[in-house]
This record gives sequence, structure tokens and C-alpha cells, in this order.
Amino acid sequence: MKKVITSALIYANGPIHLGHLVEYIQTDIYARSCKLQKEDAIYICADDTHGTPIEIKAEKLNITPLALIQKFHEEHKKDFDKFYIGFDEFYSTNGENNRFIVELIYNEIKKNGYIYEKEIESTFCSHCNRFLPDRFIKGTCPFCGAVDQYGDTCEKCNATYKPQDLKDPYCIVCGEKPDLKKTKHHFFKLSAFSDRLSKFIKSSNFQSEIKNYLLNWIKDGLEDWDISRDSPYFGFKIPDSDQYFYVWFDAPIGYISSTKEFCDKNNLDWKSYWKTEDSSIYHFIGKDIIYFHFLFWPAVLMAANFSIPSHIQVHGFLTINGEKMSKSRGTFITANDFISRNGDPEYLRYYYATLLNKSSNDFSFNDDDFRTTINSNLIAKYGNLINRVASFLQKNFDGLSADSIDEEEYVKYSGLKLEFLQQIKDFEYRKAMEIFHRYTDLANKYFQDKQPWQLIKDDKTEAHIVLTTALTIIKDLTILISPVLPGYSKTISDQLGFSLDIDNIGKKLFKHKINESKIVFSKVDENFSLKKKSCLSSLNIVTGKIISVKPHEQADRLYVLEVDIGNETRHVVAGLRPFYTVEELINKNICLLANLKPATLKGEQSNGMILAATSSDKKVGVLTHNKAPGTPVRFENVEYPETFEQITIDVFKELEIFSASDYISCDDCILFAGNERVFADRNIKGIVS
Ligand code: 2FM
Ligand code: ZN
Repeated sequence: MKKVITSALIYANGPIHLGHLVEYIQTDIYARSCKLQKEDAIYICADDTHGTPIEIKAEKLNITPLALIQKFHEEHKKDFDKFYIGFDEFYSTNGENNRFIVELIYNEIKKNGYIYEKEIESTFCSHCNRFLPDRFIKGTCPFCGAVDQYGDTCEKCNATYKPQDLKDPYCIVCGEKPDLKKTKHHFFKLSAFSDRLSKFIKSSNFQSEIKNYLLNWIKDGLEDWDISRDSPYFGFKIPDSDQYFYVWFDAPIGYISSTKEFCDKNNLDWKSYWKTEDSSIYHFIGKDIIYFHFLFWPAVLMAANFSIPSHIQVHGFLTINGEKMSKSRGTFITANDFISRNGDPEYLRYYYATLLNKSSNDFSFNDDDFRTTINSNLIAKYGNLINRVASFLQKNFDGLSADSIDEEEYVKYSGLKLEFLQQIKDFEYRKAMEIFHRYTDLANKYFQDKQPWQLIKDDKTEAHIVLTTALTIIKDLTILISPVLPGYSKTISDQLGFSLDIDNIGKKLFKHKINESKIVFSKVDENFSLKKKSCLSSLNIVTGKIISVKPHEQADRLYVLEVDIGNETRHVVAGLRPFYTVEELINKNICLLANLKPATLKGEQSNGMILAATSSDKKVGVLTHNKAPGTPVRFENVEYPETFEQITIDVFKELEIFSASDYISCDDCILFAGNERVFADRNIKGIVS
């Protein structure tokens, strides 16, 4: 029986963070465990490359969507490798195999009568002359009244709605109020699948909380699904139409096309995974995308006569030290942030394994808990046992084990393999890790009670048997933990001279020569912490008016300026001379980063920095506004302190603040002076510095 195992496809518009890694680590452990048991399993994933968030991010970075998805594809691959995420294929939904399968499925479901066209009213920006899909429109949530919510879902109350339901909507490109315009869209007859989906869910082994949720949705009536988007849209064209497939139509199909890519490379038939009874499909997802995976996706597969998922495992969200992940709060930790704080990727895998269970409840990464789990469980128990046994064997027996074992002791471990693997199979990783800890405790106790360092003085043979028994147990433990710690288990098995083959579990290591004994694990440092200073909230930006400008005497790119910022006048040096005349700057409303550490530039002290946007073709426009001097300039949704500390330029440089000409934003937070948006002079689009 073949098995396809997938993690949700990652959007190609940002780096991998610790929240993503919950899912990839959970899936990877599962996939490695299947492979350890010699199942014919493949682990498949891809970059999710289409749709509006990609377009918006590319626009912010001033690059094409294609360049953006290529950049992130490379970054994602490297980051996944660092965390031992061992995909058999990591594809891209923009690849030709995806176009092929998307068209194949579309044509099939159309032929089977599940596609129809219907005229709808869609939001349209007359100023930008384009339809505004989902994320190109923001406004007030029609349910809870939260402001600045996207056109598809409210991040505050999680409601989903249509863009035209938003109150006070605006186009995120130009800020204008959109109109409604008629357009004909392609719909998938989801409603025709209510009964089959109900059966599919009822007969499944899905998490019970999710089952109830889904059955209620179905009971409330499923609406047909609009799978098309008007041009311009970054995605695949719908055959015989000038519209595009909605990203959520082609994204899950990426599971199939990634399998096909793998099969093409390995001379296999993708249909033997996706169009047969003889294969099972396991998806791992987060609870934010349940609707898509349990309803839309199986219905599409049913409509096209493909295999449907055997299981969909849903995990909860990760919080960092109890706080929601958020860039503005400083709790957004990327894979590389973790590594740069000396976080060991395999320790993260181990730690997550001790937290994950079958439920979709949220759980927290906690600094102290992480340190304790690694130092007191992994290292003090398993790691130390290995060191003690290996070095003792090396020193006293030339690294060679005896030819008999303490049977009475070893029999206690006969249930280890099945108990451990069953829990992984049931997605109860935490329980599996408890079993691992219980058995390492047992082995440590055995070693401690037998005291081979004493025993060797009176009964060398007996001491040798104790070591051989412990070595044999270590082998079994190491093979079982290998899906969790692929790198370390390889190092340990190389040192101790056995292979990570499940058939080796239960075999006694008689007359076995170990290669070396070196310490493999190093402790998590006392100071390890994921606490990070929130960067955005540390910026004290205020509005100012330039009241005097003179050229710097020692530097031909610099001006020396006096800026009125309400309650004081600031003496500032700025590199604006190549871009602005003195006259252009006088009386100009600007934004000043007021809490930047003073710096001396060619002999003139600068007390703050005038913010400006620079385009890719090196045009510059200062950030401007219509407010009186001294008005606080703040990013929306960011909590600011009452008083600000001084910051260095490096803190500022770490941020990616972009000008989209009509607004300035960072991490999707827009910059306001009072209640009005700040914008770049001369409509410059680019990076703010
Ligand atoms: O929610 C997300 O991050 C999506 N990129 C997941 C897509 S999963 C699959 F359907 F493609
Ligand atoms: Zn617009």
C-alpha cells in the first residue's frame, strides 16, 4: 500500500517561522516513522505561489511575482534542510506539472457537470482600473466592527465574508472606495457533495472536535464555490476563459503535481498514488484551513474521480512564551532567528515532539520548558547514558561488547518498539516521548544500580554484561528516536557502529565493536531565550516641518536642517541633497525618527532621521503628511510604550518598511500620522530608510 504524506503548502511570500515548523516537524516525524517501518511512503510538499498576497508582497519589494516566488523557493528549501524536513519532493504550484494537473482536474469536473458560470457583482477599483480580490481590499468587519480587515476574513473574530460585505471598504493600493461591477465567474457545485462529504466525515477517524464542526457546516448548507478570479491575477489561466483559477483551487492540487514531479524523476506513475484504491493520503494542516481541506478539496477529488484523503490531521497554533506570534510584538521567530540564537534545530524537533498530541489545541513554546526538556530529559538521561556506556566500554574493554546479556533486564524492553510506534501512528507524540523517557529512566536506573565501575573490580565479566545490555538498549532507543532526531541518531549510530534499521531492534549486540565515544549533545545555555524586542513599537516617529535648510560644508550629499517637531526644534543632518533643492524642502511636512541615537556626520550632530522612500531606480521621496508638527506617527495595530528608549540605526534597518506610494507599511501594518495615512512624496514606491 502506497502512502502520500503532505504538509500544507507554504506561501512563497515570507520566511519559515516557528509556527510553520510545528506542522513540518510533526509531518516529518510521521513520515520518517512510516519509512522506518519500511512503508512505501513519500513526503510531499510545495511552495504555494499564486494569488494576491504574493502579488502584494512582490509589489512592495519592487520585483515581479515570479522573482519573488523563486527567491522564497530557494530560501524555503535551505531552511527546511536545516531542520531536517526530509521532503521527497518540494515543488512549486507555479510549475508546469501543476498547470497540467489543474487543467486535467478542471476539465474532468467540468465534463462531469460540476462547473457552471454565473454573473456576480465583484469589487472593482475605478481608480486602479482593476477588480479587487480578497486581500486587495480592506475595511471594517461586518460582524465585529474591527477596522482594517481584509476582504475575505476578519483576523479579530475569524468570520469569513465576501469583499462587498465589508463596511467602509477601500482599495489597499490607492485607498479609494471600490465600486461593484458585474462579472461572470466559474463556480464549482460544492452543494452537490453534501451527502458524500457527510459520509466521508462520519466514517472517518478525524479528530472529534473537528468532525462536529464540519457536520454543522454541512447541515447549515454548503454554498457553491467561486473558483475564478478576474485579471490581473497571478496564477493559471482557466482554459477557454480570460480569468484565472483562484489560488485555493490550484494550491491543494499541488499535492498531486508535487507527487507527479517526484514520480517523473523516479520513473513511477503518479496515478498509483492518486487514482487507485491501493494508496492512502495523509494531510497535515493547521486549524485555520479546515474548510478548504475537509470540504472543498475532497469534493473536488470526488468530482474528478480521484482518491480522497484517508486522514487529515489538524494541529493547533503555537504561541511563544504564551503570546500570539506577531512581528509587532517581537514574537515572530523565523527559522533563522531560532538558529541565530543558538537554537539547535533538532532540539526544536525534540521539544515539539514532547508537546504535540492528537488534539488541535494550541500550545506554547516556553523558554524555560524548552531548556528543561532538552537539558534534563534528552541530555541528562539519554545523552549521558550513551556517554557513560560508550566511554566505559571503550576504556575497559577496547570498545568491544561481551557475548551475553542480562536477559532479565532486557526483557523489560520488549514492549518498547510497539508502544512507541503506536503512539506516533496515533499522532500522540507526547505520549511516545513519555514512553521514551520512561525507558531511558529504566536504563539509567539499571546502569546506576549495577554500578559497573565498582563491579569491574570484582567481576569483570559481569560488568561487561551490564555494558553490553545497556549498549543494546541504547541501540533500540536510538533507532526509535531517529524520526525525531535524524541527525543525532545518525551520529550516535555511526559512533556505536550499528545501522538505524528497525529490524535491528531486539537484536543483541554481541562481540560488537563500537567506533568511538564522543559527546554528541551540548546543553542549552542558561541565557537561551526567544524573547525579542519588538522593533516596530520601539520607533518614536513624529511629524515635523522643516524650517531651515543649509548645505553641509564638508559633504556634498548632506543638508543640515532645523525641524519643528511641536515642542522642540531638532537639528538634523540628511542625505537629501542629490534629490531635493533647498526651496523644495523648506516648509515641507516630514516624518522624523526622533529617538535615534544622535550621530555626528562630518562634524555636524544629527538628532534624528528624516524618513524617505527610495525606489528601485534610486528616486527618493520623503515621507509626508498634512498634520501639525509633533503628531505621533504610528503603525496600526502596534502597541507603543509611554516613553521611548533611544535606538540604534541597526534596529531600524532590520525592519522592512515599504512605500506603496499611497501608504507606508511594515508587516501589513499601515503607518498613520494621527488618523491619516502617511505617504511618500512624489509617489515613490520602495524601501523606506
Ligand atoms: O494557508 C496556507 O498557508 C496555504 N498556503 C496552505 C495551502 S495548503 C494546500 F491546500 F495547498
Ligand atoms: Zn485602487
